[in-house]
Amino acid sequence: MNDKHELIYEGKAKKVFSHNDADKVVIEFKDDATAFNALKKAKFEGKGKLNCLISARIFEILTKNSIPTHFLELKNEYTMIAKKIKIIPLEIVLRNTAYGSLCKQTSIKSGTVLAKPLIDIYFKDDELNDPLITKDRIALMNIISSKDLELIIDLTIKINEILKKFFKNIKLQLVDFKLEFGYDFQNNILLGDEISPDNCRLWDLNQKSDTIVSLDKDRFRNDLGGLIEAYSEINQRINNFI
Ligand code: TMP
Repeated sequence: MNDKHELIYEGKAKKVFSHNDADKVVIEFKDDATAFNALKKAKFEGKGKLNCLISARIFEILTKNSIPTHFLELKNEYTMIAKKIKIIPLEIVLRNTAYGSLCKQTSIKSGTVLAKPLIDIYFKDDELNDPLITKDRIALMNIISSKDLELIIDLTIKINEILKKFFKNIKLQLVDFKLEFGYDFQNNILLGDEISPDNCRLWDLNQKSDTIVSLDKDRFRNDLGGLIEAYSEINQRINNFI
């Protein structure tokens, strides 16, 4: 039976289709990569499949650790079935190590391990270029209640604890990551989107020297090459561990 219907939404890296069950969606991962709000674009054959498989494994780990997520099951290697959620237009970034925009916007040196995780929240709006946003501005715009915002921040901190430990076991340093949350039909807050090297910075801990070896989308952002090799390495380490 074909349970995939019409295209509901197409993002930069995924397509979302309706499902026979009104409270589910079918999410297809694309091979497209964008950076800097789509100023930079490319296609990497096999990226969609790798991100789908990696995300599915990570959602499973989070579910086992009592984190509510939208993930239900894999349909095939590049498609997953998820609970339908209404995405909250906030990008929650958690940083363990200073890198990327934090170092461009502050005087904190790249690679500094932060004494405690830093949470940066961005307003998800392509036209405005996803600006950094404050709690007061979130309240002013009525995006979500302060209670729900606190719940999302607590979940993000818990997710960091789980993932930092998991990645360390497979010799990866979880530098930072971006999460998106949404409401299901019962108004529960669930983790949505994906968790993959597209939205996490992962550095190889199997290096003898101090040089940073990025196994994530920085390979594309910074023209380092070898993106598929890096994502495959992560997928392999996850599969060897589980
Ligand atoms: P940043 O250093 O560019 O702010 O990125 C922090 C983290 O968030 C990094 O892991 C990449 C991820 N990220 C996204 O997933 N989507 C985005 O649009 C941006 C800007 C960052």
